[in-house]
Amino acid sequence: MKPAYEYRDHSLFCEDVPLSEIASEVGTPCYVYSAGSIREKFEAYREAFGATPHRICYAVKANFNLSVLALLARAGAGFDIVSGGELFRVLRAGGDPATVVFSGVGKTAEEIDYALEAGIHSFNCESEAELALLDALAARRGLVARAAIRVNPDVDPATHPYIATGLKEHKFGIDMADAVGVYERAASLGHVRLVGLSCHIGSQLLDTDPLIEAVDRMLELASRLRARGVVLTHVDFGGGLGIAYRPEERAPDVRAFIRLLSEKVAGTGLEVIIEPGRSIVGEAGVLLTRVLYRKRTGRKEFVIVDASMSDLIRPALYQSHHEIIPLRRVPALGEVVADVVGPVCETGDFLARDRRMANVMPGDLLAVCSAGAYGFVLASNYNARPRPAEVLVEGDRWRVVRARETYEDLIRGEL
Ligand code: LLP
Repeated sequence: MKPAYEYRDHSLFCEDVPLSEIASEVGTPCYVYSAGSIREKFEAYREAFGATPHRICYAVKANFNLSVLALLARAGAGFDIVSGGELFRVLRAGGDPATVVFSGVGKTAEEIDYALEAGIHSFNCESEAELALLDALAARRGLVARAAIRVNPDVDPATHPYIATGLKEHKFGIDMADAVGVYERAASLGHVRLVGLSCHIGSQLLDTDPLIEAVDRMLELASRLRARGVVLTHVDFGGGLGIAYRPEERAPDVRAFIRLLSEKVAGTGLEVIIEPGRSIVGEAGVLLTRVLYRKRTGRKEFVIVDASMSDLIRPALYQSHHEIIPLRRVPALGEVVADVVGPVCETGDFLARDRRMANVMPGDLLAVCSAGAYGFVLASNYNARPRPAEVLVEGDRWRVVRARETYEDLIRGEL
């Protein structure tokens, strides 16, 4: 397949659109997503499952733009949500509620009731108290809710500590050792049917071994539960496959992982659910930004740009790496080692530190790469900065799928 982003004659393109065209018409900072890339990543999962009964529930939290959700809904995706707001977005985008699983450790009564009303596929419950609340709310509506228990497989995903979720000390899920008891006690609930088992051990996993380990532990638990008469119809392994943020990194092979997963589940009759987010949208997106100033203080060189931690917080929050490349390559200008920083009044406001990069000048445009996942969704209005525009590219066409916020947007709802 063709890369979504490539230089043609020293000019950076997304699919068949020169990014400089988008930057000059929409302004910066601006997120750009390749529709083709998103579709392709989704298809890779789908094809790899082959005849294995499955449901790919895209993790809405990674990128919740309505047009992205609509594109995935049309491609046949289900959705993994973690809030009422995400359900609202899925429904507005034309997603089928019957394909939605609801994850999260702190669902409110209002959110659960909204999801019951919408008729979602199932709830991934994280405590007995939540099961009891679900039972009571379903009873009030005269429904029987389908649910899974999220267990904690206690495997180390070897990722950034803020996005590891599957260890005993984490707030997520129910201890595996307690699971059998929970299923047995839940049998007495009149309005909840516990038909699934779920987990999610962490995000940005570059090695699939911990995931495989979790799959094995989950399937072992599933067979123990079945031996005790629990009727299970699906098993949900969460998301987590990483992407290569650095040129020297290698993303796990989605096809190989899904094929292995399918082999392991074969013969159990269980439907497999997965909840990938980053691996579907991460590489599809870039954040476009313009160089405002160059500056040198002490021994440090700074490239000051118009995007900041309010637009892309990942470098500040997880010390994450995003490649930063110029929209127009001018090899004769050489390279520089610099911190790429934004206008926000925090020392933590950087997009890169001590980065060897193109020797750009004020007015030049840059692309912050692999920003399609956990980019715009984590943007804020800190420093009263309007959130950036979002653009979706499809072949040689593109459109703004979220307008840049205005100053009026900043004060909407305030007295
Ligand atoms: N399912 C559940 C229950 C999750 O908590 C997550 C991510 C996913 C699925 C999707 O995981 P993915 O396939 O995207 O790895 N803001 C962080 C990532 C937080 C991930 C939270 N949970 C970042 O920017 O790296």
